Amino acid sequence: MASIGYYTPTKVLFGKEAENQVGEVLKAEGATKVLVHFGAGSVKKSGLLDRVEARIKEAGIDFIELGGVVPNPRVSLVRKGIEMYRDEGCDYILSVGGGSVLDSAKAIGYGVFGGGDVWDFYCGKRMPEGIAPIGCILTLSATGSEMSDSSVITNDETDPVYKRGCNTDFGRVKFSLLNPELTYTVSEYQTASGAVDIMMHTLERFFHSGHGLDFTDDLACTLLKEVMKWTPVALYKPDDYDARANLMWCGTLSHNGLMATGNATKGDWACHQIEHELSAEYDVAHGAGLAAIWGSWARYVLDTDRERFVKLGEGVFGESDPIKAIEKFEAFFKSINMPITIQGLGLDFDEAACRTAARGVTFQDARTIGDFKVLNTEDVFNIYMMASGLK
Ligand code: NZQ
Ligand code: ZN
Repeated sequence: MASIGYYTPTKVLFGKEAENQVGEVLKAEGATKVLVHFGAGSVKKSGLLDRVEARIKEAGIDFIELGGVVPNPRVSLVRKGIEMYRDEGCDYILSVGGGSVLDSAKAIGYGVFGGGDVWDFYCGKRMPEGIAPIGCILTLSATGSEMSDSSVITNDETDPVYKRGCNTDFGRVKFSLLNPELTYTVSEYQTASGAVDIMMHTLERFFHSGHGLDFTDDLACTLLKEVMKWTPVALYKPDDYDARANLMWCGTLSHNGLMATGNATKGDWACHQIEHELSAEYDVAHGAGLAAIWGSWARYVLDTDRERFVKLGEGVFGESDPIKAIEKFEAFFKSINMPITIQGLGLDFDEAACRTAARGVTFQDARTIGDFKVLNTEDVFNIYMMASGLK
């Protein structure tokens, strides 16, 4: 196994009514004026925003609001948030919503601290040297952003649009208040898409080069089995607390670094890169895009290390035939109405579209992706072709 560096500075309060502690927690953090950030309206409709703001007021803390974050959050709103935070003299950001709201909050935090053009931190021009303090109340189990080091932003000011991540330990938020009940209202599609994303954060780490740790492999298989057990329950009965709680905690632990402990690298992450190109250009839901890609990626890279697929198949399904194990993952995705092809995402991909997307992924042939198997533009093109049923 490899040496372990495990850094998880986020204070987590998990359980029913966790969000009601927001006033005390912000006060303990020394916040005096908070930028409350949220999405298109679900938190208003559910009454969550009013409840949260009442708690902030009770704690004697001032706040301003910035709503309007959309899925695949845009840099244009981030710029507005940076300006508001500065002009209004804020000293804390509170994200109330899903992963997109939190990623937008993180970007505002980077921009406030670092000055200059915030996109620099996403296109790799500058590395962040700090971030404004951020807390989160999560309403959707999926991205793991509530404990992850990551923020993913879409630049809607360029043509073509770019979707890029910024991963640093500064991106790990100060606190996350996690109440599974807040996810009861998440739609079937977003619940399923979120479940795939949770699974993929573990699968991406399971497939790594070099040595790993047996314990981490076992944790990975357990997490995958739990997500596959509880997702259908949450879809059938959206207010099943145990189902929502298992999904929420799996989502958090899947992407906080635990699932890579003892592994030689941080994982493969090719599917994420291949998917981000789709959600950037076509605005599809991230988890659904991953479901559409994964099986094709798996078949393409299988011969790199078949034993790894055998271990996964046996650990999750008791299935030692790697092809059958891949099919079982796809059957699960289908059973929760997730697509397993690009067409299933509603996109009409031809060979030219596959070529353009592949070049986008490798920054016009300037980089490779992946770690379990390193992929160049031609490899990515082949995977898009397979996922489109053209190969
Ligand atoms: O905007 P509102 O009205 O809140 O509606 C949202 C949105 O339409 C809705 N929703 C959220 N909570 C709800 C709810 N609807 C009803 N009840 C609730 N309780 O769900 C829709 C999707 O929300 P979004 O935040 O976009 O979903 P998700 O959490 O899946 O975030 C996806 C984004 O995160 C990025 C993805 O690429 C994508 O941009 N990722 C971030 C990561 C990270 N920071 O660590 C890692 C991931 O791999 C991923 O790339
Ligand atoms: Zn993801």
